[in-house]
Amino acid sequence: MAGSEDIYSGIKRVLISEDEIKQKVKEAGEWVSKEYEGKPLLLISILNGAFVFMADFCREVKIPCEIAFMCAKSYYSGTVSAGEVNVTMDVSQDISGYHVIIVEDIIDTGRTLRDVVDMLKKRNPLSLKVITLLDKPSRRIVDFEADMSLFTIPDHFVIGYGLDCAEKYRNLPFIAEYDEGQ
Ligand code: IMP
Ligand code: MG
Repeated sequence: MAGSEDIYSGIKRVLISEDEIKQKVKEAGEWVSKEYEGKPLLLISILNGAFVFMADFCREVKIPCEIAFMCAKSYYSGTVSAGEVNVTMDVSQDISGYHVIIVEDIIDTGRTLRDVVDMLKKRNPLSLKVITLLDKPSRRIVDFEADMSLFTIPDHFVIGYGLDCAEKYRNLPFIAEYDEGQ
């Protein structure tokens, strides 16, 4: 695996294997399939990081649902505390007719999701829940918890399965700790 252009070169160690991810994603899909049966369901994923998780997760959801994507980033300048979410691509649906699940890759400081959730709640969905693949609770700056997190991880910068470092490594099939020495 030598060579600086190798896709494995940024990996310090594999944190979560493909099989472990697959199992948890399946369980999350089963839970949603039971919980939302007979209800109008809309899965909303926050781009770019959550695209791989959404692709696998939605195929484990065995009930009818719609799928939408948003592009959102939160900008903070120290003292600014809330409502600074910048949406560069929004969902086209009127979400007031749906039970919404936000499908996210990772919760770090919690700012992005807290702002997205505040914004979407104002549109009066029938209900709103958050499922995140990864949670780094030790990094939290704002008070925000997901309704379901598949894996809780320590304070490492991670790559793979949709997560990037400078836009690279999203195509790794597992989650790895990034080698900061890169
Ligand atoms: P938050 O607003 O600080 O919770 O930031 C969440 C966003 O930061 C995520 O959606 C990711 O795009 C990015 N992020 C946070 N931690 C990591 C990481 O360890 N690897 C890759 N991206 C990360
Ligand atoms: Mg993200």
